[in-house]
Amino acid sequence: MSRPTIAILGAGSNIGTAVASHFASLKFNVFAVSRTLHASSEGIHRLQADLIDPSQVTAIFDTIQTETGAGPHIVVYNAYGMTMNDPSAPGYPFNVPLDKFEHNYKANTLGAYVAMKEFTTLVPSLPAITSNSHPITPTFFMVGNILPWSPLGMGTTLGTGKAATAHLIMLGEKFGKTGARYYFGSEVLEDGAGVLVGPVNGKAHARFVEDLATKNIVKKEDWVENLRFFAKDGGEYEIYKGENYVWNF
Ligand SMILES: NC(=O)c1ccc[n+]([C@@H]2O[C@H](COP(=O)([O-])OP(=O)(O)OC[C@H]3O[C@@H](n4cnc5c(N)ncnc54)[C@H](OP(=O)(O)O)[C@@H]3O)[C@@H](O)[C@H]2O)c1
Repeated sequence: MSRPTIAILGAGSNIGTAVASHFASLKFNVFAVSRTLHASSEGIHRLQADLIDPSQVTAIFDTIQTETGAGPHIVVYNAYGMTMNDPSAPGYPFNVPLDKFEHNYKANTLGAYVAMKEFTTLVPSLPAITSNSHPITPTFFMVGNILPWSPLGMGTTLGTGKAATAHLIMLGEKFGKTGARYYFGSEVLEDGAGVLVGPVNGKAHARFVEDLATKNIVKKEDWVENLRFFAKDGGEYEIYKGENYVWNF
């Protein structure tokens, strides 16, 4: 039987590499996309593209379809763009240079939109396939944060882009007709606070995405706009069920 496929769009040294390695160990075809080509390791196909360019996003899906004969059963959109606002400059918090705002919007939202469009179009043609005997639900996972619900003055471009993409995810989940599932998933701390200091946990993201796609751990009726989870020892995770939307300084 052919293998299932995952595409990680924005695959750097942290979440991208952790998700890629995890799914390679599950015998997926793994395509890891970044602007610059990172060193490859066994079972991981590295592809170069700038996701701010819609034609390059489409080309990635074409390449994956050609190489696998199908397309990705799972897409993780991890690329992001952020320009810190200067609190001491006039116009704060609307003082990000326009070219930066536009560039960040393209990385956070436009690239994700094109990826969702390509993914959703090909889902009906995906072969039914299992991973460790679990049927795989076609899944689009947007790596999120709490900014859409808890803005920071310094995070105008990232928050705007994530908020818009959270809306696209909501559209996919509520109105999609293919049976694919769409998630905006955000790592938080145990008390619900956003992860301000230190890297987010790549292994926990990997396990979470696997369980979403193969174990139906979030049923349609339990779906929420921002699916928050916190990392535990050994790359485990737990879904956060509290109400806190805070950034701790
Ligand atoms: N939950 C939270 O509170 C929280 C906190 C921090 C971060 N995050 C989220 O975590 C994600 C990133 O985490 P990470 O640690 O994995 O970051 P990372 O290691 O820097 O990976 C990001 C990757 O995205 C790629 N990328 C960026 N723009 C791109 C573009 N235009 N085209 C193609 N690739 C592009 C980068 O490519 P290059 O390697 O070529 O530069 C890099 O490989 C982001 O979505 C961020 O918003 C969430």
